[in-house]
Amino acid sequence: MVNFLIFGPPGSGKGTQSVKLAEKFNLKHLSTGDMLRAEIAAGTELGKKMSSIMSKGELVPDAVVIEMIANKIDSTKDVAGFLFDGFPRTVAQTEELEKMLNERGMKIDSMLVLDVDHDELVKRLILRADLSGRPDDKDPAVIENRIEVYRSKTEPIIDYCRERGIYQPVNGVGSIDEIFERLCEFMEEYF
Ligand code: AP5
Repeated sequence: MVNFLIFGPPGSGKGTQSVKLAEKFNLKHLSTGDMLRAEIAAGTELGKKMSSIMSKGELVPDAVVIEMIANKIDSTKDVAGFLFDGFPRTVAQTEELEKMLNERGMKIDSMLVLDVDHDELVKRLILRADLSGRPDDKDPAVIENRIEVYRSKTEPIIDYCRERGIYQPVNGVGSIDEIFERLCEFMEEYF
């Protein structure tokens, strides 16, 4: 199994690229944001509890997403590996993911970080707001908070992965197809 993190600030294109990459390389795409939104849409107790945190652009508790991911890893069969999108988001989540993978004879093979400047991120998310219906896209102050939460709580994972030799920055500006080609070039080395 080959396991990748697709990483970057809100609006950097993680979800867009993950769908294409998962199909090309037969990877299981695991997005904690999508899983949480599915809980909200289904009206579960967990969804109700998480919805106000998400609409403010704050992170939900580590334990919630760790449990979701562990369940998915154990129930997935017949794939070449995992593509983690929007997870991990804290150093604590990263340590847990490494532990979970190691216990199952796997590791994080590479962290692909989409590099996109602040103004482009905001432009993409504001453009998406009408289509997505996501409460965290509607308010520019919440978009700014999501970016700030990324800088303060999530970006430190880059140093953690750099120390392990698995950090791979990728230019995330350009057309969706151009960025896809750049990502494929790095990922192909692992197959
Ligand atoms: P999550 O769903 O992970 O959202 P996010 O990180 O804010 O990222 P987005 O989905 O907004 O952006 P993306 O990078 O995937 O870009 P996308 O491809 O969509 O998390 C949402 C919330 O859930 C968090 O704030 C938190 O509350 C909670 N949560 C989730 N995981 C958690 C965790 N592990 N721990 C704690 N809390 C967690 O693209 C964005 C837009 O740009 C789209 O409209 C797209 O069409 C467009 N676009 C993409 N590529 C390009 C391009 N090359 N050029 C122009 N436009 C483009």
